[in-house]
This record gives sequence, C-alpha cells and structure tokens, in this order.
Amino acid sequence: MYAAVKRRWRNSPRPWMPLPKTLFAKHALNTPPIVRSVAELRTAVAAARRAGKKIGLVPTMGALHAGHVSLVEASAAECGFTVVTVFVNPTQFGPKEDFSKYPRTLEADVAAVGKAGADLVFAPEPSEVYPAGYATYVEIAGVAEPLEGECRPGHFRGVATVVLKLFQMAGADVAYFGRKDYQQTLVVRQMVRDFDVPIEIRVQPTIREADGLAMSSRNVYLSAAQRQSALVISRALSKTEAAAAAGERDVWKLRDILQTELATVPEVRVQYAVVADAETLREPAVLDRPCVALVAAFVGTTRLIDNLPLAPLK
Ligand code: PAF
Repeated sequence: MYAAVKRRWRNSPRPWMPLPKTLFAKHALNTPPIVRSVAELRTAVAAARRAGKKIGLVPTMGALHAGHVSLVEASAAECGFTVVTVFVNPTQFGPKEDFSKYPRTLEADVAAVGKAGADLVFAPEPSEVYPAGYATYVEIAGVAEPLEGECRPGHFRGVATVVLKLFQMAGADVAYFGRKDYQQTLVVRQMVRDFDVPIEIRVQPTIREADGLAMSSRNVYLSAAQRQSALVISRALSKTEAAAAAGERDVWKLRDILQTELATVPEVRVQYAVVADAETLREPAVLDRPCVALVAAFVGTTRLIDNLPLAPLK
C-alpha cells in the first residue's frame, strides 16, 4: 500500500514536495489530482515522462459509467501514467441538443477513475480549451459524412477539433476510445493518420448492462418505461448478428432483420439502422468483408446509438 501511495505522489503534479501524511488517508489513495489548466497538465505529464512512463489518455465528457472505467483500466494496465480528461465539449453539440443539461458529475467521476487506476484528471473550463478569439476547426470528409454526420451536422467537426487539441495538450502515447461510438473511432483514426499525430488509438469493447442496453451517459435521461423500450436496440442488433453468424450474406436481408425488429417497439424512433462496411461505412450488397450493424434512435427525447460487428463469412 505504501508503494501505491508513493507511486501516486510521484505521478502527481507536485512530486518535488515531501509525501504528506494525509496521503495515507484511505480516500487519498484512490483520488487522483484534478488540474484545470493546460500548463499544469503538461507539467504533470512531463514529470511522468521523465520518470520513464508511457502516457495513456482517456478523453471523456464525464458522467462516467462502467464503459469509461474499462477504458481507464485498459490504460492503467498498459501505461505507467493515465490522464482522464473530463470536458463537456460545446462544439460537438448542435443548437437543439443537450449541451446545457448534459450530466456533470465531476466528484463521482474522479472517484470512479481513481479506483480504476487514473493518475490525473484534466477538467478544463471551456475558456481554457476555446479562449477568446479561437478560430481553428478540424473538418473530416469521407467517414465523418454519413450516419452521425448526416443526423448531427457539425458534430464530428467539434469532436475532431477537441480530440486533436486534447492530444496536443496531453502529448500522450496511447488514447483509448469505446466501440459504442463506432463512427467516432473511425473519425479519430482518420484524423490521426491524416495529421500524422504520433499517438496510438485503442478501441475497447462496448460495455452493456445485464439486459443488453449499451452503457451511455445519456441512459440517465430514460424513464423506466423508456429504458424497457430501448432494449429493442440491442435485441435488434443481436438478431442481425445471429443471422449473419448463421450464414445470411445478403446485406439487404440483414438490414431488414434489423429494421423489422426495431419496428416492433413504436416508442423507439429510428434515425438510421444499417449494415455498413466496417472501414468506410458504405453499405455493401454482400457480407464479404468486415461489417458493422449500426443504429441511432430516439427514445422519447433521448438519442441513443449502438452497434455490433458482424463477422464476415469465410
Ligand atoms: O466520446 C466522447 O465522450 C466525446 O465525443 C469525446 C471523445 C470525449 C470528445 O469530446
């Protein structure tokens, strides 16, 4: 335990100060420091780097759940120093979207990621990320255009911009993202390739509730009845996956299975439900390559997304 306390202190932004006795308090063991400025973040990361540590980055918007925790655990297992960013990024929300009501739970988030092995939380104010006069944005063509790109114009511009900025600020070696935001992972990979960003991208599996609902910070908006209705999304995806695994190769038939199941619950308003090429997101006619079934749907006013990879047939 003493070693763990010392390790956390060495990784903290103030490693030159003597180890304070209060760090032996039980809560301090699992509570990583929070920094608000890019300068403090860089100082802490530089100290970890001097100590020979690999830097892992987990970008989040907070309201953390088991899916985020799994990303932090993956980083802590692979990297000597894990930074979790908590920033509700205004530029990725449309004017009619839930930016102002997006859940903000910093204290609980810090406790959760501390237990999972995070060494530092970066929680900047919007003015630290987008100071007055901010004028540069990242636009990605191709993979950012269909699906979420059509339903949420400007969303990936905001995501790519903030993710590139977080990569620049933290200077991490590896960044961790969840597969639930499948198209986002393709967009981030495209940006990293195109801008020669020296970072590895790791994508971790979607974490689900016991009944199949994909974990999402937005699930808290659902009433009990809506949550029940929302289960049709993972059910429809599983049916489609099972049909592919059983030998169905016709992508239109697979899409029909997906859409027919979704239509059994009229409270769920589907925005898209497709079977797409796992790299390009174009819809092939035949399942002769890695494909993904993807869904976006409103349950009441809550927009949920989910997906499942469909194994190609040999
Ligand atoms: O997936 C998210 O939570 C956000 O899109 C991200 C990657 C943290 C950028 O704000």
